[in-house]
Amino acid sequence: MTNVSPRERLARQLAEAVAEALRADLEHQDHALLVVSGGSTPVPFFTALAACRLPWERVQVTLADERWVAERADDSNARLVREHLLRGPAAAATFTPLTSDHSTPEEGAEVVAERIEALAWPASVVILGMGGDGHTASLFPDSRELDLARSTDATTVAVRTPSQPQPRITLSAGRLHQARRHFLHITGGDKQAVLARALAGDDVRELPIRAFLACPLATYWAP
Ligand code: 6PG
Repeated sequence: MTNVSPRERLARQLAEAVAEALRADLEHQDHALLVVSGGSTPVPFFTALAACRLPWERVQVTLADERWVAERADDSNARLVREHLLRGPAAAATFTPLTSDHSTPEEGAEVVAERIEALAWPASVVILGMGGDGHTASLFPDSRELDLARSTDATTVAVRTPSQPQPRITLSAGRLHQARRHFLHITGGDKQAVLARALAGDDVRELPIRAFLACPLATYWAP
């Protein structure tokens, strides 16, 4: 790959690893589930994965978390997935969004959970991002629902947190752990430093990404 940026190269490497994982699981199951995170980091990864050869009609895609906004909203993760991942052959994948017609995530959490629980668990792959505050999915250090999201058997948790403008819904930590493979996709020096801090301690409330550092986690980082 000539003069490809480190982040583009990383995105392509992650896409290849995820495609391999999906192909491997599809050797012995009808469907394979991919759980992705939103935000800005995943965009080149989505584009690279969409270009991979896969039996996309047998791939299920859902989100680790979502902002409780309409899909047409700029900050909708579902919109991000539809615009950058579900393109070309990948449009044949089955996408399960994390919002419902209810006006709040608290009202919609149960019907969303039922929809999610019907997917091909354990997931083949969960892709996690991380914020500068060490949050992952919508497990935020300043969220009063963090303890619930870490401990509940429920699939979904409605999250309201001072650091975020919109209400959110997140898959619980327990549900996110129901996967064969976890990948952490982060870029930049700031997040590298946050990850180093996370690895040096064990207080999950301080840096919620710590909830996923004990299980095997493939970290994909580029400057
Ligand atoms: C979201 C994501 C969230 C994301 C981090 C990192 O809905 O925002 O699911 O957990 O992974 O906030 O976001 P960036 O990639 O934009 O830094």
